Amino acid sequence: MVQETHVSAANLIFPLFIVDGTFQKSEVASMPGIYRYSIDNLLREIESCLKLGLNSFDLFPNIEESIKDKYATESYREQSLYLRAIREVKKNFPEACVVTDVAMDPYSSDGHDGIVENGEILNDETLEVLGKMALAHAQCGADIIAPSDMMDGRVGYIRKVLDDNKFTNVSIMSYSAKYASAFYGPFRDALNSAPKFGDKKTYQMNPANQREALIEARLDELEGADFLMVKPALPYLDIIKLIKDNTELPVAAYNVSGEYAMIKAAIQKGWLNEQRAITEVLTSIRRAGASAILTYHAKEVLENKWL
Ligand code: PBG
Repeated sequence: MVQETHVSAANLIFPLFIVDGTFQKSEVASMPGIYRYSIDNLLREIESCLKLGLNSFDLFPNIEESIKDKYATESYREQSLYLRAIREVKKNFPEACVVTDVAMDPYSSDGHDGIVENGEILNDETLEVLGKMALAHAQCGADIIAPSDMMDGRVGYIRKVLDDNKFTNVSIMSYSAKYASAFYGPFRDALNSAPKFGDKKTYQMNPANQREALIEARLDELEGADFLMVKPALPYLDIIKLIKDNTELPVAAYNVSGEYAMIKAAIQKGWLNEQRAITEVLTSIRRAGASAILTYHAKEVLENKWL
């Protein structure tokens, strides 16, 4: 009766990794229990999630090195793995909410979220690529576009491209406060998308900054974002709370790969109680103010009836 915070299936978004081919299901070494699926198996996985009441998915592609290039052209090629996956999911499960990731890194031969020239990110040139990618996702049936690249001005740019093409009903979940974090390591293993040189500190935020997150969030809000996301989640609960207290928009938080790996490693060693640790983490992220939590724990908490 007096419990203030609850987590339910409706709050959860399940990130899923996809690979080309058929009958593929390979476990990510640093993320026990998380797999890269080929589209046939992705559909099976989504079907089993829907049966558990888990309706929202965020897709991430593992792209073969040989088809990556400087301009991430694979990201909007009609028959690309990613676009085929969105189409197949929406065709088979129109009721599923499909969130799509907009950023160049899985397709970039440089492993960066933007176009790189002479060691620098070209912000405005990158927007054009992001716009093409977002439009392609919308054309394939994406419900929510989630730009994770942290280029300046991309929310407004993508909103305009979507509206100009009559996709006014497609929402934007912006990675507003995305920090240059050590906790993305396992994700980059999953996608083989680590930067080939340098780091992402010129576009992702300094973990030491709090007030800058408010600036980023306000800009995204003014540019037309429908959700504001904070990432990672656990080391940044104060940021989730800060943004929640300063916006009327729903706030999302990404409980990232490294947070998942950290908990799973301790559990494998027998150092933490699995159910208690995982539900405490998700409850805390909700308590801080997140309406939506992107988490690799989404399926297991429902399968095991931990919520
Ligand atoms: C990149 C992107 C990253 C994640 C989601 N989109 C990694 C990065 O910025 O290098 C990380 C998610 C996770 O760690 O679970 N556009």
